[in-house]
Amino acid sequence: MVARIRKAVFPVAGLGTRFLPATKAMPKEMLTVVDKPLIQYAVEEAVAAGIEEFIFVTGRGKQAMEDHFDLSYELNETLDRRGKTAELEQVNEFLPPPGAIKYVRQREALGLGHAIWCARDMIGDEPFAILSPDDLVLGEPPCLAQLVQAYSETGGNVVAVMDVPRDQTDRYGILDTPNPQDRLAEITGLVEKPKPADAPSTLSIIGRYILHGSVFSHLDRHEKGAGGEIQLTDAMARMIGTQPFHGLRFQGERFDCGTKEGWLAANIAFSLARDDRRDQTEQILARYR
Ligand code: G1P
Repeated sequence: MVARIRKAVFPVAGLGTRFLPATKAMPKEMLTVVDKPLIQYAVEEAVAAGIEEFIFVTGRGKQAMEDHFDLSYELNETLDRRGKTAELEQVNEFLPPPGAIKYVRQREALGLGHAIWCARDMIGDEPFAILSPDDLVLGEPPCLAQLVQAYSETGGNVVAVMDVPRDQTDRYGILDTPNPQDRLAEITGLVEKPKPADAPSTLSIIGRYILHGSVFSHLDRHEKGAGGEIQLTDAMARMIGTQPFHGLRFQGERFDCGTKEGWLAANIAFSLARDDRRDQTEQILARYR
């Protein structure tokens, strides 16, 4: 029996420079797709995968996110007084139980590996999930639930992967694998943001991971990698060979909502996927074609 995945880390300290000026005074994780902020999608995806503890690695200027997962007494009171029951439910139904969300601050932007390392004491030695909220995935079952399933099959580390055009390998962690076409690609090497000519494949990691707690012993070294940052990919690379490690070609479509084009595409795709929004969205699209 493999250990249950109970905890998830959400690295949410990033500045969102690719989405300025929108993210000047607002966390990028609060950008909305249709009618929900990115961070809510990520938390709901984690809940659907059985996660019970939610660890936000946050930073300065991110308070709107904490407020989103708190009670809003004034709003609740007003909605209640006006008999707006549906709206009242909408603002409260996604809240995890009191105490289930924990916050830790990453004081300096030293890289994704460093952000995850900041959560070490809250994770301990158990396998856990990581979800990057700007990677939004439209799919059923939700992406993290697919990873949990793959983890229960393999009992080791699993990361969500997809093919990218070769000229984009320098934006991702890239797999070296003997079976890139399989649903579960065995990972024999990992490189962070290689130049297209140096990339061992075009199979790239997107922001969903299930990792053993031993990753922290590698992150403890604070070794700098690509871009001078402490990279999660480098710590993961050190775990290869110690336990099974696979890339899961997940079912679904991933949107990089940290970019303007990814965010726009996500808004269209998520609107079209919703019964209550589809007709109206098609009409709008027809108008601007
Ligand atoms: C991070 C990881 C990279 C991964 C990517 C997915 O990069 O370092 O390995 O492929 O997320 O979105 P970042 O986008 O933070 O530069």
